[in-house]
Parts: sequence; C-alpha cells; structure tokens
Amino acid sequence: MRLPPRAALALGAAALAAPAGAHAKKWVAPAAAVARANPVPGNAETVERGRALYVEHCEPCHGPRGKGDGPEAKPGHDAPHDLSDPALQKRMTDGEILWKVTEGRTDGGHVLMPGFAEDIASEDDRWKVVHFVRTLNGSAPAQPHAH
Ligand code: HEC
Repeated sequence: MRLPPRAALALGAAALAAPAGAHAKKWVAPAAAVARANPVPGNAETVERGRALYVEHCEPCHGPRGKGDGPEAKPGHDAPHDLSDPALQKRMTDGEILWKVTEGRTDGGHVLMPGFAEDIASEDDRWKVVHFVRTLNGSAPAQPHAH
C-alpha cells in the first residue's frame, strides 16, 4: 500500500500507540515508560503549575474536574476518558500518564488526543501536569475551597 508520507507517519504513530489497531481497544504504553517514576516533587507549587497547564491544554476536552465534559470533548467512543475515575487512576502509573500526554493518540490519522511534546515542551512541566491529574482522582478527599 502506498501512502503519502504524512498519512504513513500518522499510521505509524497509531500502530506504535495501539498495536492492536482499533482505538476502541486498549491504549498501551511501553513497559519502560510505564515504569518511570515522577522525578518532580509534588508540592503546592508544582501542582499549581500543573493545574495552570491543565486548564490551558487539557480542560477543553477533559473538563475542569477531569470528567471528560469540556467544550471540545467529542461524544461516543471518541470521548475523552474520565480522569477522575478512581479505577483509571489506579490502572495508570505516573510514567504511563506522562507517556500518553507526550505522545497523544491518533486513530487512522485522526487525532483523538494531541501529543504535548511541543506545546508543553518541558518534560518537568509535563510531570507537573501528572501531579495535577492525580488531584482529580474522584476517590481523593474533596479539595478545600480557598477563602
Ligand atoms: C482534543 C481533546 C483532548 C485534549 C486536548 C486532551 N485529551 Fe486526553 N484524551 C482525549 C481522548 C479522546 C482520550 C481517549 C483516547 C482513547 O484511548 O481513545 C484521552 C485520554 C487521556 C488519557 C488516558 C486515559 C486512559 O484511560 O488511558 C490521559 C491520561 C489523558 N487523556 C490526559 C490528558 C492531559 C493531561 C491532557 C492535557 C495535557 C489531555 N489529556 C488533553 C482527549 C483529549
């Protein structure tokens, strides 16, 4: 099969991200990525930086509390996953979240979730987003409101 280079690239990326093909199937990160621990300490400052980046880059799809209800969210099987789901939070390691945020996911050349290697160019910043994503966990105690 001959493809224009861009389509071939997109297909290559999709194949890497999801060896089984269809995006309805599991999105599997490489074992080495899954095993990486977050090297950035989680504290008020790093979580706040992660929150600001999340609001700018992720909230349009994933929504303010991670529920997948942002204005850019697509319905049906292209819908963003609910990041506040405790089962999802438990299933994914920090390294896996970092990898998914970095790589993004395409399905046959159509972007389900963009990769953020360029828009959040600092890997430390992407690790800070991971810290913030952890605060969305629906099983975590409610965050106190700032007065
Ligand atoms: C254009 C909409 C869009 C944007 C922007 C977006 N996402 Fe996603 N995200 C999705 C969709 C759709 C999926 C589900 C992909 C799939 O597996 O089919 C997803 C999946 C994920 C997953 C994997 C969940 C799982 O069950 O494997 C994580 C983690 C995630 N997003 C975090 C983020 C973070 C953090 C950002 C911002 C840096 C972000 N996303 C920006 C649409 C988006």
